[in-house]
Amino acid sequence: MKIDHLRVNNVTFPLGFQVTPLSFSWTVEACENAKRQEWARIRLSENGEKIFDSGEDRKADSLDYRLPADVKLSPRTKYGWNVTVLADNGESAEASSSFETGKMDEKWKGQWISPEKETSAAILKKRFIVKEPGEARLYICGLGIYECYINGEKAGDEFLAPGYHSYDFNLQVQTYDVTGLLTAGENEIAIWLGEGWFKGRLGFDGGYTNLYGDRLYAIAEIWNNTESGSECIVRTDETWKNCPSPVIFNNIYDGEIYDAQREDMEPEGGVLLAEPEKCGPLGDRLSLPIRKKDTFAVRELIRTPKGDTVLDFGQNLTGWVEFECDFPEGTQITLTAGEILQKGEFYHDNLRTAKTEFTYISNGKKAHVRPHFTFYGFRYMKVDCHCEVSADMFTAYHLRSDFDQIGWIKTGNVKVDQLFSNALWGMKDNLLDVPTDCPQRDERLGWTGDAQVISDTACYSLYLPAFYRKYLRDMRAEQSILNGAVPNIVPRIKQGMISEYGSCPWADAGVIIPWNTYLHYGNKTLLAENYTGMKAWVDYQRKQEETKGGSHLIKGGFHFADWLALDHDDPAPFGATDPLYIASAYYYKCADIVAQAAEALGYGEAVEYRKLSDEILTSIREKYFDEKGLCICPTQTGSALAVQFNLTENIREEGDVLAQRVRDNGGHLNTGFVGTPILCQALTKSGHNDTAVSLLLNEEYPGWLYSVNLGATTIWERWNSVLPDGTISPEGMNSLNHYTYGSIEAWMFADVCGIRLSRAGFRRALIAPHPDRRLGHLCGRIDTAAGTYESCWEYTEDGKVRYEIKVPFSTEAQIILPGEDAVIVDAGTYTFERNVGPK
Ligand code: BGC
Repeated sequence: MKIDHLRVNNVTFPLGFQVTPLSFSWTVEACENAKRQEWARIRLSENGEKIFDSGEDRKADSLDYRLPADVKLSPRTKYGWNVTVLADNGESAEASSSFETGKMDEKWKGQWISPEKETSAAILKKRFIVKEPGEARLYICGLGIYECYINGEKAGDEFLAPGYHSYDFNLQVQTYDVTGLLTAGENEIAIWLGEGWFKGRLGFDGGYTNLYGDRLYAIAEIWNNTESGSECIVRTDETWKNCPSPVIFNNIYDGEIYDAQREDMEPEGGVLLAEPEKCGPLGDRLSLPIRKKDTFAVRELIRTPKGDTVLDFGQNLTGWVEFECDFPEGTQITLTAGEILQKGEFYHDNLRTAKTEFTYISNGKKAHVRPHFTFYGFRYMKVDCHCEVSADMFTAYHLRSDFDQIGWIKTGNVKVDQLFSNALWGMKDNLLDVPTDCPQRDERLGWTGDAQVISDTACYSLYLPAFYRKYLRDMRAEQSILNGAVPNIVPRIKQGMISEYGSCPWADAGVIIPWNTYLHYGNKTLLAENYTGMKAWVDYQRKQEETKGGSHLIKGGFHFADWLALDHDDPAPFGATDPLYIASAYYYKCADIVAQAAEALGYGEAVEYRKLSDEILTSIREKYFDEKGLCICPTQTGSALAVQFNLTENIREEGDVLAQRVRDNGGHLNTGFVGTPILCQALTKSGHNDTAVSLLLNEEYPGWLYSVNLGATTIWERWNSVLPDGTISPEGMNSLNHYTYGSIEAWMFADVCGIRLSRAGFRRALIAPHPDRRLGHLCGRIDTAAGTYESCWEYTEDGKVRYEIKVPFSTEAQIILPGEDAVIVDAGTYTFERNVGPK
């Protein structure tokens, strides 16, 4: 028996994260005859002194063990914690971990400083003496983006800090262990600043600059902890110097120009004491660090017909390219990012106004080169240089928030496996501190609709509770000035964006993302934190519709609705399904979720939201359903919503209508942002799994494997962002890395593998696989918050389907094989064989 995944507020060994309210979690791997936890004991210590001991707690919840409020933590302090678990067979295990608090609400000794002149990049420096280097910590925030160096060594292994958040509501402090970086005697700290999301160009159609501030800022303290105590040995103040930066141009969209000839220049002046005026207060971080998570060598160095040199890294990824430079002084090398070649030539017009370049000017010294204050979404890099380059000089690094993959699917169909990989990369590439629409063109924004649509699939595939905690804090902050409505983009772009007030199903992210986070990871503390925001969005809609007559239907407003669906005669990006039907359906869904959330949290107002959701449903049925209980919106999305949101009582027949609509459309889907994530789920739920699998396996446009056949390594924004001849669709808005249609994977996990949660955090699951001979075999695994589930099936040569199902320690599962009654099982491995006859 082994205890694993010890986490504090869903982060492993958090250093300087916000940890209030304090919540512990862990998983247990056990042998076959240990079925469930009898008790767990949690101990917490500070400097070796015990400050909390739960004793043998029979109710201890491994998904969210909340410490009593009277356990008080101190700033800048390391805590050890330990879990012991006793299983029902008498076996036990023990494991330990630790966490360290940041500055919490301690007053800062450091002051905000800013370069004297407004600039797009600067280096703020200070020399200082250390008598006795001890355990040292750096507490820092730099705006827009910063990297901090002590004696020339970078503090920490994260990039693009402090990340992208709603700066006008909160600023995040990072804590670094800099113990090894200090030396006895003179030391130097240098904070490199760039524009980032804070000050640089952001937003499409040219966008805006100086959104959150028009200067660069930094605040920092280094604390040295020795036997004789803890001392703040460096703090930002008016004595710091401002040095010119070798970075002479930078922003997120256009890239960076780095002139190495400007390295190590003398200070040009001092700093001002100046606080970022338009920003929220400083607090310990919630953002996961952005780290290098993968590397790619050049797959092919291409000389194009026109004579360009283009590097192909074989995967569309988010990050940057680093290279070894050994060029004479003054040599300039420029890399330009692109996602696709056109007729064998480099192309990046689909990135719109984003220049996506990195230029390096050599100072004649050998150097390992990389960008600092930007990132790219790319598969290809064009190299412009009057110099010799070779493939082995370059490496691509994938950067993203540092979360783990927890879900895997492997089938007997290589194209379906490639689709899984594409969906996974779509998510990894678009979860860089904020869930973004795309990582490459002049957007890379936290569009709430895209984030909402993918959230179920993302929670199946990746461990995201801490990632979403931060996004949802920003969302609630933005809601606080929009009367509870959820904006289309979080963090919100303040000026001029259309319809900031709640477009369906973008704004529904405010309810659906926290709910999916709770369902998948089972953390009630987090649900309680998000509950006010969830409720606020439903209350906002209620107020709106009540002023329009109180029928409990959404009767107006702008809604993206089934965005990019193909069922409209007009080639507009809006689908044909009545947006007000969709908006009312989501209003119902959100009210229902708030009722369920209130029930889960034991709040009395569950009754009020249950009543509201019932009333909305009645109104929807009256207006949008005929006397047979079938949806009157004549689209795939209309029927899929009716089935999946239980709007109809006639699921079977509505499913028949849906399957017929697919047949009438030549066996193709024509859905957009609303219909696509639920289409296959609705078909399987209503008894048409074969049609759902046919849609999955359809290789023609429009369908998932169409892009796989055209060599995609991520999911495209439109079903036909690339035409069959390999040219980019002339319609515009063609990102090749939009994750929305990767939402098919939730169906793969929930229905085809058949692993579906029936209690939050997978404490209980429903395992109902839907084998299909066309896929040959399939194996799905999810390392859930409650442990690892697996569901595999294969068609054997002798006409059987063989199932293998694994259920983790201290959980319970209901297994339903096709056409059979449910079997209830606890932890263990179960195999079944069923005759299905020859091919
Ligand atoms: C984005 C989308 C986003 C949409 C809003 C696009 O430009 O890339 O994914 O949700 O605008 O309709």
